[in-house]
Amino acid sequence: MLNDTVAEKLNAQINSELFASHLYMSIAAYFASLDLTGMAKWFQAHSIEEHEHARKLFNFMEKRGGRITIGKLDAPKAEFDSPADAWKTAYEHEKHVTAAIHDIFSAAAEAREYGTTAMLQWFLEEQVEEEDTFRRNYKLALAAGDDEWNLQDMDDRLGQRAPAPMIEE
Ligand SMILES: [Fe+2]
Ligand SMILES: [Fe+2]
Repeated sequence: MLNDTVAEKLNAQINSELFASHLYMSIAAYFASLDLTGMAKWFQAHSIEEHEHARKLFNFMEKRGGRITIGKLDAPKAEFDSPADAWKTAYEHEKHVTAAIHDIFSAAAEAREYGTTAMLQWFLEEQVEEEDTFRRNYKLALAAGDDEWNLQDMDDRLGQRAPAPMIEE
């Protein structure tokens, strides 16, 4: 059985990944409202990825005999000042997720839940990639400002993103 504290934190993280999925759909809707369809598509794909993160943790908890409870999702932020502001919101959210993963990792190590620390290794590496991706795109959006030409160029490139792969479990 999973250690109680670790189980509670993993359960909270499942719900947090579901919220991230929700938030990224909201950001996709904002970009769609600006006719920046490439970025809208990018955030839709990322929303699916976050849902997959929730599923990965879900399947791990299930294997370890932890009781999973799915709670109510808060309404995500829906209005943004600019494309850069939307990217900033996403980047800040990723940093918040990284801190949460670190916290679960510490609790798992302290409880000698080494199966959990091994599983979380994947999330630690994923967060390094996530922060890097979001920081770069935030900076690009900042540089583009309200220049339509630059925004369309960024939009074209991000629109080429392939659909998110399913995580095998
Ligand atoms: Fe995630
Ligand atoms: Fe993420």
